[in-house]
Amino acid sequence: MTMSTSIHGMWSSRFAFILAASGSAVGLGNIWRFPYTAGEYGGGAFVLVYLLCVAAIGIPIMMAEVMLGRRGRQSPINTMRTLAQAQQSPVFWQLVGWLGILSGFLILSFYSVVGGWTLAYTLYSGLGSFSGIDAEGSAQVFSALTNNPWQLLLWHSVFMVMIAGVVARGVASGLEQAVRFLMPALFVLLLAMVAYAATEPRAFVQGLDYMFRPDFAEFQGRAGEAILSAMGQAFFSLSLGMGAIMMYGSYLSSQASITQNVVIIAGMDTLVALLSGLAIFPIVLATGLEPGSGPGLIFQTLPIAFGQMPGGQLFAVVFFVLLLVAAWTSAISLLEPLTAWLVENRDWSRPVAAITGAVLIWLLGIACLLSLNVWSDVTLFGKGFFDLFDYLTSNVLLPVGGVLIAIFSGWVLSRHISVAELIGRDTLGYRIWRFLIRYISPLCVTIVFLNAIGLI
Ligand code: PHE
Repeated sequence: MTMSTSIHGMWSSRFAFILAASGSAVGLGNIWRFPYTAGEYGGGAFVLVYLLCVAAIGIPIMMAEVMLGRRGRQSPINTMRTLAQAQQSPVFWQLVGWLGILSGFLILSFYSVVGGWTLAYTLYSGLGSFSGIDAEGSAQVFSALTNNPWQLLLWHSVFMVMIAGVVARGVASGLEQAVRFLMPALFVLLLAMVAYAATEPRAFVQGLDYMFRPDFAEFQGRAGEAILSAMGQAFFSLSLGMGAIMMYGSYLSSQASITQNVVIIAGMDTLVALLSGLAIFPIVLATGLEPGSGPGLIFQTLPIAFGQMPGGQLFAVVFFVLLLVAAWTSAISLLEPLTAWLVENRDWSRPVAAITGAVLIWLLGIACLLSLNVWSDVTLFGKGFFDLFDYLTSNVLLPVGGVLIAIFSGWVLSRHISVAELIGRDTLGYRIWRFLIRYISPLCVTIVFLNAIGLI
């Protein structure tokens, strides 16, 4: 027996699903995290490994997540339990859902702090703080913000309220409306930023070279870690391994084609990441900034460009508003699985569930924002909370969740179910998917893990 609808509501159309899922995928991961992580590992080689991971691991797992979600039509914990029971498999598989809740919790706690930075930067842009700014001035603006716990707390709180507000209202009315216009607008603006970067051909070519000429010497004795980070970035950017996409799949109509939609979503996500790299690296290189300078990278570089270009103030406001929206639509998907689970299992109303989740995450977010200043010497495994949660979720939790999803879809779920959900017939395309999901994803992730911890 499969359900044709979810108790939480359904997308109004396949287009709404594409918008919402790409709203989840496209976010700070593409515009904030991708450039600074690529910069940390020297550019081209990282980008190449990243693209391979998206194609060979990310797309097949995204298809699997949407498929499981649509089949189970509940929060990831209950979906995995129901599907496992239907296959007479142990309820152990609901662990995927629990891990996802944990990942969502940890990710959202630092994500919301960065979401807060985009709020602050929208205001700064509006006030004209970037006009004529140089690299040093821009670095100062950024550190003045991150060194001030009260400011960070204010912006983090505003961002959390924005998320809870949408999730409390529910999928169709809250989420769909938010993404409909803003996603295309973000895309256009990024294109304009790249066009601006191209007006300085020398710097632009340097940027292109930096991003697309793989130089594995850049990995310098830390190839294992670099490959793990590229893979982690693919999981993070595509919103995989924590149940967000599974949740969104559960609101998708049984008629829609999963394969086609997933290729569109992953394609858009990748394009946005590459575009933001192209907009940012020419500035980074031309101003002599350090590409590996960490999470402040875009907040320190883009204002320099805005400060110099004609009409830069308006441009900056629009850019940060759009970045905010991108962050917002992703953050919503991080809170959704937990909310749906509370509604299903505790019988809470949606607003109560969403707000309770948001408050708990808000508290954890305070630890993240303090780790940037007053708690900067409180470390675990050599990292403060912000960096630790960022590293741990992308590089460990999401890949582990993703592999469990792959193993379940390829080895536990009966073949006729995945054939029926994905394509309807046993075609070559289906066999390629099945091969990737049964062998390639689990093996690649395991090898990358073992290698990164030095076992092979
Ligand atoms: N994909 C989002 C981004 O790139 C972040 C995210 C990760 C969202 C995991 C949901 C789940 O910003």
